Amino acid sequence: MSEEFEAFMELYAGLPREGPGSVNSLLNVLEIADTPPLGRVLDAACGSGADSETILRALPGVELVGVDTQEAFINAARARGLQADFRVGDMLWVDGGFDLIWCAGAVYFTGVETALEAWRGHLRPGGKIGFSEVVWLGKPSAKAKAFWGKAYPQMDSLNGLAGRIEASGYHVLNAEPLGRTGWQDYYNALRANIARLRGKSTVMDAVLAETEAEIALYDAHFGEYDYVVYLMEPA
Ligand SMILES: C[S@@+](CC[C@H](N)C(=O)[O-])C[C@H]1O[C@@H](n2cnc3c(N)ncnc32)[C@H](O)[C@@H]1O
Repeated sequence: MSEEFEAFMELYAGLPREGPGSVNSLLNVLEIADTPPLGRVLDAACGSGADSETILRALPGVELVGVDTQEAFINAARARGLQADFRVGDMLWVDGGFDLIWCAGAVYFTGVETALEAWRGHLRPGGKIGFSEVVWLGKPSAKAKAFWGKAYPQMDSLNGLAGRIEASGYHVLNAEPLGRTGWQDYYNALRANIARLRGKSTVMDAVLAETEAEIALYDAHFGEYDYVVYLMEPA
């Protein structure tokens, strides 16, 4: 593990979740997706299992598999004491079929089209995919464009991504922006870790500076972009 990645993992240790998200947005997905009733659900790139916990609280009978490449996150997920199968692995190569594949804040690692292609063969009849992805909501300011152009050059618009989902052979059932609260809780937890870790090393300070730049952009420009929660089924 590089020193930079180690610092990154230390910054993320002990957070309630590892990216923006909200209980209400996920409950909304579950309400639409639970017809027919969900039997087996994959929390793809589950991190420390925040959304797995929400899913199991809402639907206690569900068989839940959570997968993440980071062992530290999987250990944190297991420590929640949930009735779930948490595994270290790649979210695209999980065996078996699912009624819902949920992926919060991680399809950008593989690319949307690659994920949709890989998951198609893992959907049971009537199965659905839900994911959240950061997109432009309107015309971005120069500052926001410069930041995200560097951090995530492939970032699309809400409708642009919906079109790509449809072009991949899926029908978009719902596309809801996450809204401010989904970011605030996540950033507040990160801010506490930043304050605690500042000055630990030059590598750590560089990692903190990048995260602080992202939060400062959010403070000044939120509304130009948001995570949007997309729910879809094969067309
Ligand atoms: C922004 S975090 C989101 C975590 C969690 N879904 C949440 O919302 O709290 C992204 C996660 O994707 C995981 N990840 C990245 N690529 C992955 C892959 N190919 N397979 C499984 N997990 C992956 C990372 O380890 C990290 O936990």
